Amino acid sequence: MSRIHLGAAYYPEHWPESRWPEDVRQMRETGLSVVRMGEFAWSTLEPASGEFHFDWLDRAIALLAENGIHTVLGTPTAAPPAWLVQQAPSILAVDERGNRVQFGNRCHYCVNSPEFHDATTRLVSALAGHFGPNPHVIGWQIDNEFNRVCWCSRCQELFRTYLEEKFGSLDALNHRWSTRYWSQTYSAWDQIPAPIVTPNGGHNPGLVLEFKRFVTRSYRAYQKLQIELLRPHLAPEVWITHNFMGWFDGFDHYALAEDLDMAAWDWYVTTGRNDYRLSGAAHDLTYGFKRRPFWLMETQPGCVNWAPVNSMLDKGEGRAMAWHAIAHGADAVLYWQWRSALGGQEQYHGTLVDPSGQPRPFLEEVRRLGQELSALPDGISGSTPKARVALLYDYDSRWSLQGQPHHHAFDYGTHFTHYYRPLAVRNAGVHILSPRAVQAAASLAGYKLVIAPALAIVPESLAAALRDFVSRGGHLVVTLRCGVKDGDNALLPARPPGPLAELAGVDVEEYYALPSPIPVRGRLVDGEARLWAERLQPRQGPRKGKTPQAIACQVMACYGASNGWLDGQAAITVHPYGKGLVYYVGAYLDEAAQQRLVDNILQNAQVPVLATPNGVEVRVRTTAAGEDLYFVINHTAQEQTLAFPWTAYNVLRGEPIQGPWTLEPYGTAVLTRKR
Ligand code: GLA
Ligand code: ZN
Repeated sequence: MSRIHLGAAYYPEHWPESRWPEDVRQMRETGLSVVRMGEFAWSTLEPASGEFHFDWLDRAIALLAENGIHTVLGTPTAAPPAWLVQQAPSILAVDERGNRVQFGNRCHYCVNSPEFHDATTRLVSALAGHFGPNPHVIGWQIDNEFNRVCWCSRCQELFRTYLEEKFGSLDALNHRWSTRYWSQTYSAWDQIPAPIVTPNGGHNPGLVLEFKRFVTRSYRAYQKLQIELLRPHLAPEVWITHNFMGWFDGFDHYALAEDLDMAAWDWYVTTGRNDYRLSGAAHDLTYGFKRRPFWLMETQPGCVNWAPVNSMLDKGEGRAMAWHAIAHGADAVLYWQWRSALGGQEQYHGTLVDPSGQPRPFLEEVRRLGQELSALPDGISGSTPKARVALLYDYDSRWSLQGQPHHHAFDYGTHFTHYYRPLAVRNAGVHILSPRAVQAAASLAGYKLVIAPALAIVPESLAAALRDFVSRGGHLVVTLRCGVKDGDNALLPARPPGPLAELAGVDVEEYYALPSPIPVRGRLVDGEARLWAERLQPRQGPRKGKTPQAIACQVMACYGASNGWLDGQAAITVHPYGKGLVYYVGAYLDEAAQQRLVDNILQNAQVPVLATPNGVEVRVRTTAAGEDLYFVINHTAQEQTLAFPWTAYNVLRGEPIQGPWTLEPYGTAVLTRKR
């Protein structure tokens, strides 16, 4: 499979079969190479218990295959049909108020329901046995966008069993959660509630964190049930995936991705324009789920139907977005969906073909994309987005901080992209990694810089890997709110950044949620701290018993006059350690100051950067043969002029580039360096 796929979600069950050939003809002419089908078709595939109707889907797959189009099948379990719900009402989830969810939408199941698992097993084994051997089915998507949390009595019971297995005894649980606090001491397992999580906590932090892990475990088990039903029927090259939702934080995506062959996600910009400096992070995040190329399983053909304003992308913007996804590691771009169904909840959503069956204006853009994709050389799919910078992203830390933001405007994801954005501005390639993937310095080989934004929970094994990385010459940025908690979401009996304090050569004496910005000044930084400021106490050089590597920490910037406590105190420090450097950034800087700081960090770490006009992105993917492909994307509605300090070859046009050259509005060029 050496091509970048272009495709759409297709629901042939919505249309008379006599229409299919016309749909497929249009798909072929648009340049689609794949369609995804079946992911909500339970009531058509199994209209009554155990009565399977697969022939229509056989014919759809065959028709597409005759036209050179591959099929991805979705298991339709996100849409349990009415007959099933009537037969086994307990498969319906219960919301946090204790009400059964009403039938009539989707994702209405309880992920732990044994009746639902039975129904899933019956259907998915039949699907696997029937379609698994079909050579035109190249991959499977399990369910659709896992998201619902259930509070039914069975889930509550399972949660307690999970806790019992994890903690072993109530004494251990009570101790680790400090339950004497507000008399929450538990004397029986069935006293422990499944917490109703509100934005500002409301429950014991240990309980809240474990419930998130329990939800992760529940979905992972449900996903695994389906994987085990499918896998025996599939050829080794047929992959299994799930379509995740970018920043969605309902479960630990790294855990679910472990059991999948490939990651995939659904990208919607909703209202307004795409900001590639932010959306790049969501692609990189998905790449990081398996540290492998992924599929963009859904993206918007123009507009959605569920945003505050369902605005249309600019002409050309959708094509730039597709290239952007590919540049960040997508091996396929699929639009949702091919044609508007006449009924159902999503009548006004963007599609490629309108209800009349005629192409919408957006289709032209997809056709052009298809032509460009067919000009790509072999070896791009499967290639690696190049990165010398790694950012650590952690669900536990995110959950911990979101339960207790301390400042209503503090958001883990926003703080994370506060570090991503200035890197994207300089076209410094980034990988986003799970801290669990960084249990050995070897996993950081090849990176010059590692950034740990607000990593509240730092396991000792990670701290050890980071120490090793820095000793060997790596540069590390530790930011505010790092190293505060243990794995039970309890405060560490040490000053932050806890396990990273020796490495950073600094202790955090106090943290301050800021009602208004305060000045931050240093040789490089002249700006302000917003939302958050930490008062740092640099450690004073080698002390008895400390490693000889620990030499004095230097202050890079201090706070100006503010609340008295912070006046003149250290805000940002840098600490030489081994052959490397460790920064501690205690201030949540304004954007301009953040850019200057990150620029300096990049320069010191010798991370390659590339200057481009504002709004023009460059991202490199390296093929297995070692060739670098430069994706140059104009994300603006204006023509842009570029010049690179090397001679390039435009792969899409098949021509060399010399001197300054222009990129049309929303245009993309794929370049190699002249051989
Ligand atoms: C999600 C779903 C799709 C569709 C789109 C609409 O991503 O997976 O089935 O509803 O939203 O934007
Ligand atoms: Zn339940």
